[in-house]
Amino acid sequence: MMEDELLKIAKQVAIKAGKIVKKYYLSELTIHSKGHYANFVTQADLESEQKIIQILTQNFPNHNIIAEESGKQDKGSQYSWAIDPIDGTIPFVDGIPVFGVSIGILKDNKPFIGVIYMVATEELYWAQKGKGTYLNGKKIKVRKEGNLSSCTIGMDWGHTDRIMKLEKFFRPIVEKVRYVYMFGSAVATLCYIARGMIDAYIIRANVWDLAAGVVLIREAGGKVTDMAGKEVDFAEGKPRIVCSNGAVHEAILKIYR
Ligand code: IPD
Ligand code: CA
Ligand code: CA
Repeated sequence: MMEDELLKIAKQVAIKAGKIVKKYYLSELTIHSKGHYANFVTQADLESEQKIIQILTQNFPNHNIIAEESGKQDKGSQYSWAIDPIDGTIPFVDGIPVFGVSIGILKDNKPFIGVIYMVATEELYWAQKGKGTYLNGKKIKVRKEGNLSSCTIGMDWGHTDRIMKLEKFFRPIVEKVRYVYMFGSAVATLCYIARGMIDAYIIRANVWDLAAGVVLIREAGGKVTDMAGKEVDFAEGKPRIVCSNGAVHEAILKIYR
């Protein structure tokens, strides 16, 4: 079946790209600015993305690709591959093992296959709509903690507008939850929810940061919506979303209403 083939290639491509990233991990890196002091790219990001695009173009020449470093190739297909060759470039450069390769596949702008390879720990997460979420072959589930004060959540500064985020999104929730983590990696945070280690993540990010992780969370029994509790519009450039274990979702939305 076509979808099984897509998942198979997505896994292969994530591992191949991960091998490239691993080669550079903990080595001397050349970093290039992307116009903001906190946003940069290394040769590992570029080489990883090149490899991913090369394999995808060979296998699915008619599919669209939205890749962080090289942009969009719109071929008018209903399938789009959302690629982040390294998510968590800041921790990657610092030698902190929470970065990963993210490969999401959308059909008509809706994510339905997700693969995240956490390179340093060699953890391969994958999910396919209707078929559950797996970590290195073992089924994983969110944890069903519905009491906000017992929840641990992830938040993120991102690269810009940090004071605005502090006031508008951090301040209303920090005293209401058990703990707020900031891993500096969207994929790590999304995987930790899918795996039942933490309960939620409030984030504004691009489709390449989110598409794969969204499928992982939904298929592990969690929930992902926009801030109004509605379906996320991935055609919108950079949606702000709430990802959760499902049980605490409404309580989080209520805080921002
Ligand atoms: C970033 C990380 C970070 C998130 C940013 C992303 P990058 O991705 O996921 O945690 O806060 O919004 O852009 O630049 O490491 O690929
Ligand atoms: Ca990213
Ligand atoms: Ca990236």
